[in-house]
Amino acid sequence: MLRLAVFVSGRGSNLRSIHKAIRERRLSAEIVSVISNRDDAPALAFAAAEGIPVLSLERVPIDEHARAVLEFIGANGADFIALAGYMKLIPAEVVAAFRHRMVNIHPALLPDFGGKGMYGHRVHEAVIASGATVSGATVHLVDEEYDRGPIVMQRTVTVEDGDTPETLAARVLQVEHAIYPEALQLFAERRVDIIDNTIIIRS
Ligand code: GRF
Repeated sequence: MLRLAVFVSGRGSNLRSIHKAIRERRLSAEIVSVISNRDDAPALAFAAAEGIPVLSLERVPIDEHARAVLEFIGANGADFIALAGYMKLIPAEVVAAFRHRMVNIHPALLPDFGGKGMYGHRVHEAVIASGATVSGATVHLVDEEYDRGPIVMQRTVTVEDGDTPETLAARVLQVEHAIYPEALQLFAERRVDIIDNTIIIRS
């Protein structure tokens, strides 16, 4: 069973899909805290309404983010972090404290179409502009750089003729909602080994 801290910045559909998977017992975890960099994130409102302890960093000075986060998630007993649409780089102290225990979801097939500035519709615009016929979603471990850690799980979708960033985003989002709880469940079952920065999933 994972004790999850989930980091959000916006809409929160991945947070809700994780929450639903827990309720439906597809994921053995508890969401023990939700952290946002914005006060007005709908994801934060959802968490608060569910009675989950929440922290907004919006009015915390940037050089105090690491201490505030570690104190808050420590107080709530989190042992694993899931980034779900979190738009800020995680402070290095937090990455170090949760090394191999922090994952992110990205709406494309990394290592392509990732990195700084590749978020939201920009990702899908770039995929369409590249002429790729396949896109998808990636769950990966978090390290000190955006979208660079070892890959835990990927699933593909077809890029259709006439796709817009919006239609492709909607197709990818469905896959995100499926694979994020599945990937987290692998960690809950302790089936993920990390050897020399490579992931091995035990069957
Ligand atoms: C998702 O597309 C996720 O892959 C990306 O940010 C988006 C967050 O959406 N990292 P939501 O807030 O979970 O609805």
